[in-house]
Amino acid sequence: MKTDLAVIGLGYVGLPLAQEAIRAGLSVVGYDVSDRVITGLNAGKSHVDDLSDADIQTMIKNGFTASKDDQVLADASAIVICVPTPLSADGGPDLSAVLGATAAVAKKLKKGQLVVLESTTYPGTTEEVVQPILEAGGLIAGEDFYLAFSPERIDPGNKKFGMRNTPKVVGGINQISTDKAVAMYANFVDTVVRAKGAKEAEMAKLLENTYRHINIALVNEMAMFCNDLGIDLWDVIRCASTKPFGFQAFYPGPGVGGHCIPIDPNYLSHQVKTNLGYPFKFVELAQEINAGMPNYVIRRVQDQLNTVGKALNGATVLLLGVTYKPDIADQRESPAIPIGLGLIEKGAKVLFHDPMVEVWRLAGNELPRVADLTSALKKADITVMLQDHASYDAELLISNSNLLFDTRGKLDHPEVERL
Ligand SMILES: NC(=O)c1ccc[n+]([C@@H]2O[C@H](COP(=O)([O-])OP(=O)(O)OC[C@H]3O[C@@H](n4cnc5c(N)ncnc54)[C@H](O)[C@@H]3O)[C@@H](O)[C@H]2O)c1
Repeated sequence: MKTDLAVIGLGYVGLPLAQEAIRAGLSVVGYDVSDRVITGLNAGKSHVDDLSDADIQTMIKNGFTASKDDQVLADASAIVICVPTPLSADGGPDLSAVLGATAAVAKKLKKGQLVVLESTTYPGTTEEVVQPILEAGGLIAGEDFYLAFSPERIDPGNKKFGMRNTPKVVGGINQISTDKAVAMYANFVDTVVRAKGAKEAEMAKLLENTYRHINIALVNEMAMFCNDLGIDLWDVIRCASTKPFGFQAFYPGPGVGGHCIPIDPNYLSHQVKTNLGYPFKFVELAQEINAGMPNYVIRRVQDQLNTVGKALNGATVLLLGVTYKPDIADQRESPAIPIGLGLIEKGAKVLFHDPMVEVWRLAGNELPRVADLTSALKKADITVMLQDHASYDAELLISNSNLLFDTRGKLDHPEVERL
């Protein structure tokens, strides 16, 4: 059956894309290698935060199916690749899923098709890695088929900006590829921004994420010395943010998490070092500071326990919020992981509470989840707020904790220690 769009990789990025395209009236099919994902979706079950089961069921009603059969790729006018790009052991992007997805497309590629890569990667991937695989069968990119890169800007949990109202950057390997990709996205995105080429579109994504990474590192470093100087950085940021131009507020935290900020800037520094032989100093410094935050948090927990004559070894530590962002269930690269592991290594008994997470595993071991928050607060020697989920009630936390350490700066109270 002919379709307008095939989405490869049905996760946090691919599913909202498929949903918005369907809403705009396009016929959409999903392709994934995971049986679990395909079976779940076809049964009307969502596995990502931003889509509910009802959303998936509406998509199905409008013709969506998830499939493992690569024939669906042959029948689509446009194919968008949204597969994961984790870090490999040498610090560069692990392109194995991109290579696998591209090979699947290459097997079925037809004249006139549009292929777009959305997975975050280093500049040059579309032209130097994806294009040769697609051209191996004899079709020429930019002539027989069209090829572009379009960075994904999805912000899971963001209620204000979704697929449609977040401008989409698109860069093709030549003019006609850009035209075709812009026309496709214009069906379901309000503003499509043309990049000069695929490399500019790839680099734009890395600039966005590197900018966040570096600015978070800046305030994290300031948090450490402001604490030593006895200055309340949270108040400093509040004051600075009243400047209506030239300043954007970033906030310190227990470390950076998620699939993008701790990972993407490394693609760039890895590429600069490998290809040019010199370091991308800003990224390396930011990486060092942000990666050091979990240990810094552990040190502060230890110091706070010492103020009441207790040692970390043997103490009960309650962690609140183990996800990498508030109000979502995603735990990827969450700083709660190194913090939990570090606390256990130092002899603490670690409990966790998270309204979004039922089961939390650390190094393969399931941690005890607190069911009754109030009694756990009373029982714990110290409570550490790692994630400020909206459902946390400041009054309840403050009045029931023995010691409270807030790494998100939300609890401005004389009895609360803030990062
Ligand atoms: N999650 C975010 O917030 C976010 C934001 C911006 C950019 N990105 C980027 O988007 C890309 C996808 O991320 P995600 O969060 O959607 O990942 P995800 O893990 O949620 O989903 C990826 C899906 O791809 C499937 N997959 C893996 N290999 C495949 C293959 N060879 N063929 C077909 N399917 C395959 C997996 O089974 C999974 O269902 C990554 O490059 C990521 O960096 C993610």
